[in-house]
Amino acid sequence: MNILFASAEAHPLIKTGGLADVAGSLPRAIRNLRHDIRVVIPAYQSVLKQPEKFTLVAHLVLEGVTQPVRILAGRLPGSTVTLYLVDSPEHFDRPGNPYTIESGAVWPDNAERFTSFCRAIEALSLDAAGLDWQPDIVHCNDWQTGLVPALLARHLPRPANLFTIHNLAYQGLHDWKAFKKLNLPADFWSTEAMEFHNQFSFIKGGLVFADWITTVSPTYAQEIQTSELGYGLEGLISHRADTLTGIVNGVDYSVWNPGRDLQIPVTFNARSLSHKIENKRALQEHFGLPVDERIPLFATISRLVEQKGIDLILDIVPQLVKHNAQLIVLGSGDAEIEADIRSAVKAYPENVAAFIGYDESLSHHIEAGTDMFLMPSRFEPCGLNQIYSLRYGTVPIVRHTGGLADTVTDTTPKTLETKTATGFSFDAATSDALLAAVERALVYYRQPDIWQQLVCTGMKQDFSWKRSAQLYIKLYETIIARRAGEPIAESA
Ligand code: ADP
Ligand code: GLC
Repeated sequence: MNILFASAEAHPLIKTGGLADVAGSLPRAIRNLRHDIRVVIPAYQSVLKQPEKFTLVAHLVLEGVTQPVRILAGRLPGSTVTLYLVDSPEHFDRPGNPYTIESGAVWPDNAERFTSFCRAIEALSLDAAGLDWQPDIVHCNDWQTGLVPALLARHLPRPANLFTIHNLAYQGLHDWKAFKKLNLPADFWSTEAMEFHNQFSFIKGGLVFADWITTVSPTYAQEIQTSELGYGLEGLISHRADTLTGIVNGVDYSVWNPGRDLQIPVTFNARSLSHKIENKRALQEHFGLPVDERIPLFATISRLVEQKGIDLILDIVPQLVKHNAQLIVLGSGDAEIEADIRSAVKAYPENVAAFIGYDESLSHHIEAGTDMFLMPSRFEPCGLNQIYSLRYGTVPIVRHTGGLADTVTDTTPKTLETKTATGFSFDAATSDALLAAVERALVYYRQPDIWQQLVCTGMKQDFSWKRSAQLYIKLYETIIARRAGEPIAESA
């Protein structure tokens, strides 16, 4: 199969969250299964600054986009996957992150930026860029690519397409004034298309027009059909239930493998857990915390946004201190949450430490050196850190929601007996419920035999892409076959 995989970020070139991890690893896994998958991302300034070589392969004049756009081609680093960059300097040649100015505010022209990205993907999808390569299916991800299924619906013949929701909370909503500037077909502004409560919704393009929709875990696929997590889109999503699937994310164990990880002080595996303790001591030292392997060490690594429930963690800091525990936080985002973390560090310098910022290498060391990983997310489409934690022998404590529910097995007398327990989970999004799970974990932490069983069961879990990549391939085949059964009309 020829597959075009479109994403606004892809590790290791550009990353703000888990979408990049997926876009950097799923295509590799699909390539290894011998399909011609090509990834397309915007040519951000920071991507072009990297040593990777890209060659100019096409000049495009796109409908509705004022300046011509260039397509550059190279490889997804460390793989044979072809990578296309959409080089539209007026939209992407600027500092800051893909979505925000350095100060943290969103780029005011995001609608135009990602419309030009979608227009370029449309051209690549229709083999209209002169590259002599026709995808059988276009796999779009999140709102930044949401217009693609809507644009493709205007062409026949056209390739099949799939839209993956990584996070329904981000919808790409813009007002009428912004919509007018996009030079899109006028009928895109209608409730049957992308209008949503008097706003233009990029994500609706995927939800309404894609041949199939997936989310990144089976539980989240159910949750977004409810008013609690559907953001008013639950009716539309339920209506599409027969073309909606949840496929849990895999992870790239060549990047996240404690046995070979060059970013941690000492490598280890399930048979050399004493080396994990060396990572713990190094981590305590790095953060200026008392160095003592007997102190239970908790951590979290996260975008600092309401979704992640960091406030619940901060609420229980006094109780963690009473238990003589330590807490390490790595994250950046919301200024208020950052300030609250700084206050906790100031109030309890012997117990709480933080790095406010983004540090990939430190995130590996934290996974390796910590005893327990806290993820009290209010919702979590999949979540990757709990999966990394499992592999690094760090026991996850998670809220029972979305992908966290699908990847962590709570510790109970029964799951201990069946040797399936891998972590601790709790239901209510409250600090009391989190604290109860933490205290339950501490009871087992003080019983080394049981703790070791938990750690080792977690380390054995296999969330490699192998299984999920095969599920995507099967789904691609189903979608393509379904489309083949449809009548092919002349170009619309
Ligand atoms: P989300 O995509 O909602 O942010 P995920 O758990 O899927 O959540 O993925 C988050 C990814 O981003 C993980 O790879 C995590 O290690 C990484 N990450 C988040 N914040 C930081 C940070 N401050 N420094 C380093 N890595 C981070
Ligand atoms: C989103 C979600 C996260 C998921 C990631 C990758 O950012 O918030 O739960 O793991 O996408 O699919």
